[in-house]
Amino acid sequence: MECFFNTAGPNIPEDNYTIDPLTRFDLDDILTLIRQKRYFVFHAPHQTGKTSCLLALRDYLNAKGDYICVYANVEGGQASRNNVENVIVSTIDTIVREARLIIKDIDMRAIRDVIQREGIDSRLSSFLSRLSESLPKPLILFLDEIDALVGDSLVSVLRQIRAGYANRPKSFPSSIVLCGVRDVRDYRIVQSNQDIITGGSAFNIKAESLRLGNFSKEEIHELYMQHTRETGQVFEEECFPMIWEATEGQPWLVNALGQEVTYEMKENRDRSVRITPEMIYRAQEQIIYRRDTHIDILIDKLKEPRVKRVIEALLFQRNNPTAWSIPRDDIEYVIDYGLLTKEIGKDLRISNSIYREIINAEFAR
Ligand SMILES: Nc1ncnc2c1ncn2[C@@H]1O[C@H](COP(=O)(O)OP(=O)(O)O)[C@@H](O)[C@H]1O
Ligand SMILES: [Mg+2]
Repeated sequence: MECFFNTAGPNIPEDNYTIDPLTRFDLDDILTLIRQKRYFVFHAPHQTGKTSCLLALRDYLNAKGDYICVYANVEGGQASRNNVENVIVSTIDTIVREARLIIKDIDMRAIRDVIQREGIDSRLSSFLSRLSESLPKPLILFLDEIDALVGDSLVSVLRQIRAGYANRPKSFPSSIVLCGVRDVRDYRIVQSNQDIITGGSAFNIKAESLRLGNFSKEEIHELYMQHTRETGQVFEEECFPMIWEATEGQPWLVNALGQEVTYEMKENRDRSVRITPEMIYRAQEQIIYRRDTHIDILIDKLKEPRVKRVIEALLFQRNNPTAWSIPRDDIEYVIDYGLLTKEIGKDLRISNSIYREIINAEFAR
């Protein structure tokens, strides 16, 4: 089957045009952190390629063979966000399920059963101890979608991770990577009774945080050229500055434009049709109009008071940033979600022209 531009979930290199995920971050930096047995945060806005990168890194580490690496998506706990017991149980279940895929000859069920009697406040840490001790190599654990957890549940997970930290690598995961949208600083958590966890951060381990960036112009070109090489369909060179303007490399947007212009526009399924800038323009409008999940999440975010305040300040008080009186944290929050971009020495701005069009429309209402 022909490959295609992926707009749903992590990239599958056999099926989708793909930029090698291992080239999208500094692999040496991450390997160094792992060698140093560090716990750290890997973060980026929605649909930037975090999960695709983690899965590729997991496979890379397991193939190299120095560690056993397990990926677990803790999003399952989201339905019961504030029920600590449900979150801990579902997190353990997910790790068991994923570990079984990697380690065929270890009786995960036995490990889980042993810790069944533990109280909920120590069950996850006991489980991770048991699991680490039963493995022939140090365990590396990736916890994806960590910010799907909130309040007391998130606090419990982070505390239990911290509890075993000193016992790594023999009796606890050698490295743990927390992956989500937010940077580590927001793991300073307000509990449901409004108390702020003492010491500022529940993840009270001196942690690095790495941010996954967007595609470069070269990467966009390479991704689209994969389509040209496979199908013979040509993009006129003038398309590329437009694709850059529209997306500034946001990976989902880049793929969505490609998919729109090579597939959703049915007449372009005829691969002898050359793709022109005018088609790119129409594709961009179509993506905005259709409101896929990616766009929907963005519009939803704009309704949050803290986001609204920042965007309004940017739109309506642009020339007078000193009058903003907006907490730095709120601005960082909107940047973490990818709506705004701040480059060193440049003004804060909306991240790309697709977002700009959506935001302007929302605030013009
Ligand atoms: N390596 C890649 N090459 C090309 N496109 C990618 C790649 N990784 C991610 N994408 C694009 O980003 C989207 C989201 O990928 P995913 O890994 O699920 O991101 P996240 O976990 O950050 O939400 C994919 O549907 C695809 O459009
Ligand atoms: Mg993901």
